[in-house]
Amino acid sequence: MSELSVNHLLGIKYLNKNDIELIFETADHFKEVINRPIKKVPSLRDITIANLFFENSTRTKLSFELAEKRLSADVINFSASQSSVKKGETLIDTVNNILSMKVDMVVMRHPNPGASVFLSQHVDASIINAGDGAHEHPTQALLDSYSIREKLGEVKGKNIVIVGDILHSRVALSNIYALKLQGANVMVCGPKTLIPKHIDKLGVKVETNLHKALNWCDVANMLRVQNERMEISYFPSTREYTQQFGVNKTLLDSLDKEITIMHPGPINRGVEITSDVADSKQAIILDQVQNGVAIRMAVIYLLASKIKQ
Ligand code: NCD
Repeated sequence: MSELSVNHLLGIKYLNKNDIELIFETADHFKEVINRPIKKVPSLRDITIANLFFENSTRTKLSFELAEKRLSADVINFSASQSSVKKGETLIDTVNNILSMKVDMVVMRHPNPGASVFLSQHVDASIINAGDGAHEHPTQALLDSYSIREKLGEVKGKNIVIVGDILHSRVALSNIYALKLQGANVMVCGPKTLIPKHIDKLGVKVETNLHKALNWCDVANMLRVQNERMEISYFPSTREYTQQFGVNKTLLDSLDKEITIMHPGPINRGVEITSDVADSKQAIILDQVQNGVAIRMAVIYLLASKIKQ
């Protein structure tokens, strides 16, 4: 099997286990490429990609752009704050205008859940979801699983806890789908108010005691509290949140075993993890960022090879 079962990457929900394996094998190859003195391959010289960011992003945008350039694609960037969206143009009109300039692939981040699915039904280009509201963030989940595989040998059978604001996090949902697909044991941990009511239906364990969760896991993926998505208070104060759900070095040292710490970024140092944890050898946060480029190269390459057929 050498091609993806999908023509777009809209969410992990639409992938199967073979797709994930193919993406990882392809990323292994690109990881080797980006560690060479000449970090570029000519694979996508005939492909034009538009990065459409309707919501803020630093590392995801940079990571996609770098991945595209390392594949030698032509790249155009668009961010909503400088665009005609502010003048009332619809999403489909904006995208169709861009596509009329002969764009083959669109990488889109959008505040509305489902925006990329909607787009894929209305425009003729391959769509990659770079985060749609609190819904999915598939490339983040792929790079997270890839980093676990790199660190622990495999994802299958490993105990992974996702800690924090599960309710508003697209990273959480995509990670749950991806980890379950690969046979990991998944737990979510956070304040009750930030855990969706029926999340156990996805086959995950729920724990509100961080110490217990950390003693259970091999890997803890620490999420940022998504304040920008909250209209009400979900916990009394940031200080109290940190006391109950923040990871510090003393807590890590009190565990039965050495666990791996992950974070999708951006980190709020001193809130979900302290600096000594973020900068410790147990944290693989910068490996995640590096793997992000290889994973995005793999996804773009595999989708582009379906366009070319
Ligand atoms: C995440 C996101 O935007 O969903 N960050 C990222 O993609 N690097 C997580 C977050 O914002 O907390």
